[in-house]
Amino acid sequence: MTRGAGFGLSATARLALVQRLARRREGQEAQAAADPRGFGGIQNLKDWGLVRDAMDALGIESPFFRAHEGLAGATTRIAGREVVNFGSYDYLALNGDARLHAAAAEAMARHGISASASRLVSGERPVHAAFERRLAAHYGAEAALAFVSGHATNVTVIGHLMGPRDLILHDAAIHNSAAEGARLSGARRISFPHNDLAQAGKELRAARRGAGRALIVIEGHYSMDGDLPDLAGFVRLARDHEAWLMVDDAHGLGVVGATGKGIFEAAGVDPAEVDIWMGTLSKTLCGCGGYIAARAELVDWLRHTVPGFVYSVGLPPMLAASALAALDVMEAEPWRVAALQRNAATFRELCRARGFDTGASAGLGIVPVILGSSVRAARVSAALLERGVNALPIVFPAVPEKAARLRFFLSAAHEEAQLRDAVERLAEAADGVAPADPAG
Ligand SMILES: Cc1ncc(COP(=O)(O)O)c(C=O)c1O
Repeated sequence: MTRGAGFGLSATARLALVQRLARRREGQEAQAAADPRGFGGIQNLKDWGLVRDAMDALGIESPFFRAHEGLAGATTRIAGREVVNFGSYDYLALNGDARLHAAAAEAMARHGISASASRLVSGERPVHAAFERRLAAHYGAEAALAFVSGHATNVTVIGHLMGPRDLILHDAAIHNSAAEGARLSGARRISFPHNDLAQAGKELRAARRGAGRALIVIEGHYSMDGDLPDLAGFVRLARDHEAWLMVDDAHGLGVVGATGKGIFEAAGVDPAEVDIWMGTLSKTLCGCGGYIAARAELVDWLRHTVPGFVYSVGLPPMLAASALAALDVMEAEPWRVAALQRNAATFRELCRARGFDTGASAGLGIVPVILGSSVRAARVSAALLERGVNALPIVFPAVPEKAARLRFFLSAAHEEAQLRDAVERLAEAADGVAPADPAG
């Protein structure tokens, strides 16, 4: 069984499960040993097999890869049934917007679907530069660069920027993509407790001398908890220790700040104080891809050298066009941001009034409901779907086992009645699933 995961079972049930899994594992190991071309010897693959077997043994249907048969907005269609949806990060309800579709269609008619090459060598289209100018203006930065994947943006940029003599200090809750980039760089990595600025300062003071360059990486709106960092504090920390500050505001754009500009708007910080802004096209901008906004010297170097850009195809022009249109709509219709924030605050309060633990959520777009074990989270998610509500479990190791949760993404398009009903259905679903075993 995955270490640290008690699965919220009683000690007796856990023992029976462990014995059953051990018997299965023996059979699988014998099989793997007999198959020299198989992959069964890989430790991570074995670990995943154990989780899958445990889910089978406990009769838990996988909550993952649920197919949405139409547009996944405030409602969606799963297995032929209309349900209220909290599983998609279409914060401003723009994924079905005719203006974004028209922009994408126009770019597709002009350029086709793909950029068909790396932008460096034949993949460049005018809409790429137009989108990047717009992003740069948004962050008060000199330049910006768009990549084909948000995840790859963090991996390749952090991995390229930092090296083995350097130091990367990051929040413990930082997204996997930034952690992978840090690992790739070979830099010394220090993680500080989530949102603990004082501890971050201590770690940086202790480690700064002797390190080459230093990079602090935080998120503008944390994807698992829906809470915010002290941006002004991190800017000061970076300046005090000659470190760069990188902010991944993937979930901040369109969500945080009075008009959805992001964490800098909410914090009242000049965005130019942040050395590297990172964001994605997959949330508010309803596309796919990532971006960096920063000084021109950095962006120019990246566009000519960073592997995930140079050796990867350009962002599909139609996605650059629809993301640009999404920025226009976001700016022209700030009521969308207000509706999202109102919905998230209402949902958080309704959950709290029902006795649910919503952690440190700022109530702006992401509301976790912490359920205390991975099994419980998976079971409540399944029971909730049966009741017509889609919300996905986040389980160990993505979060600590005792903090396993359902994560609710709110949308500007949710109606208050849907929120009220969803919380009632959640209460029913949670009542029907035994709480975590305290000994687990
Ligand atoms: C904070 C954060 N950064 C980066 C990413 C990666 O972005 P993408 O999914 O667009 O590749 C995500 C994805 O959810 C994220 O939450």
